[in-house]
Amino acid sequence: MTDPVIDPMISGALAARANAFAPFSKFLVGAALEDIDGRIHTGCNVENATYGLTMCAERVAVFKAISEGVRKFRRVAVAADTETLTPPCGACRQILWEFCGDIEITLVNLHGKTETYRLKDLFPKPFDVSFL
Ligand code: THU
Repeated sequence: MTDPVIDPMISGALAARANAFAPFSKFLVGAALEDIDGRIHTGCNVENATYGLTMCAERVAVFKAISEGVRKFRRVAVAADTETLTPPCGACRQILWEFCGDIEITLVNLHGKTETYRLKDLFPKPFDVSFL
């Protein structure tokens, strides 16, 4: 189990979750992306009355970092309040692959339970720029 007190990526994802705007699903998610300089870029899910325009926490974190000029990433954490840890959705896997490559992904819940994966294992046959 990763100690959130000593891993700012984990504590960042948990803290970002508190900012989730999820009045429709009530499903709060936080994400924290660590870049190669060790800086943490956080995101939460932001829902929308049309539902379909909802943005997941992971993509908010990626787009925030990209918009700040950051291009190289090391790890990402996803925090949700589920016993079976919440993995990134398909759209987020695609975006993570395109901007972060085969990044390490740590899932965490509010009890500090964690699991760590490589994106390649969650997203084994991606479409990307190499096909264009
Ligand atoms: N959600 C995320 O933010 N990330 C995930 O990994 C799974 C789902 C959000 C989208 C929506 O606001 C809510 O969780 C329920 O699907």
